[in-house]
Amino acid sequence: MTHNKTKEITVEWTSPSNLAIVKYWGKKDIQKPLNPSISFSLKNAVTTTRVSAVPSKQGGFTFSLDGNKKETFNAKVANLLKMASSTLPFIIKHHLTIESSNTFPHSSGIASSASSMSALALCLVDLQQIINCEIDQNMDLQMVSEIARLGSGSAARSVYGGWTIWGETPSIEESSDNYAVKLPNIHENFMQIANAILIIEPNRKKVSSSQGHALMNNHPYGEARIKQANDNAQQLLKVLELGNWNQFFDIAENEALSLHALMMSSNPGYTLLHPNSLKVIEEVRRVRLEENLPVGFSMDAGPNVHLLYPKREESKVLFWIESNIKPLCHQEEIIYDQLGDGPEKTNLIKLNGI
Ligand code: PMV
Repeated sequence: MTHNKTKEITVEWTSPSNLAIVKYWGKKDIQKPLNPSISFSLKNAVTTTRVSAVPSKQGGFTFSLDGNKKETFNAKVANLLKMASSTLPFIIKHHLTIESSNTFPHSSGIASSASSMSALALCLVDLQQIINCEIDQNMDLQMVSEIARLGSGSAARSVYGGWTIWGETPSIEESSDNYAVKLPNIHENFMQIANAILIIEPNRKKVSSSQGHALMNNHPYGEARIKQANDNAQQLLKVLELGNWNQFFDIAENEALSLHALMMSSNPGYTLLHPNSLKVIEEVRRVRLEENLPVGFSMDAGPNVHLLYPKREESKVLFWIESNIKPLCHQEEIIYDQLGDGPEKTNLIKLNGI
């Protein structure tokens, strides 16, 4: 936190992207999910956001990503600020300068909205606490998650490290459609999960996630999907406690393929898969079955494939990636990541040597 004579207050947070194993697809009300989703936070794919607040009667904000004005994000930020202002009233009495940077390329298919909206929500709640002189209080992460959700649904899950669930689920009493909660009792195996992100095609998506979510309203398989996701969430919760990799891969792959099947069977239908996405899927299943390599896949709403494997088997998996997978990637690009510990606040006072 820094203060100067103009009463400018600046905070900075770094927050991770996350990968959902049970996917959020389709929404109701204000960005609430049609079904529960379960994800883990990444370690290396993070957004750092710095927000400076200066008292102003008009309010308002400027937003930049990696030093450039970003119109596509402006609408999301404006929406989040508008909806968060009833909980965080300082927003309408300050002008905010919001500067963000990602550690990963924008085109990589990593959910940058999850990390950027969660980093922004952390900064906003922190600023409100400072203005209220509540700096000694612990941050209410459920409140942060709820505010992050208003910017982007998946961002609700990025405010914690490790594994989280978002969406009401009977077996997790504290679970909610309003915010994500951290999952306890995760088997050691899944705290050591690695994720290699294969860049199959770096171009922008033909159909955005927002358009895809909207197509779940009146989807012919809508009800069946809600049941499937609830069943998969229930199964995954057990698997995460017990530690079985093959059962884990079955659920992750069923969810990834179902997500793409839902896109193909919506009206209008569309596909985001690339021929090489399918080649990777075939090869993952072959090597697991024939060579017993513990590797599975997940996918989000795009052509890139997320390989999942135990960190301790990394050398074997990397050897196989190098020979059989790399040639299928765009310019052989792969981003290596793993489960991470969640958001961190930058100590600006120390940083500036004040
Ligand atoms: O948060 P959004 O609106 O970008 O939606 C994300 C949807 C998926 O990434 C496909 C699934 C998920 O749960 O993250």
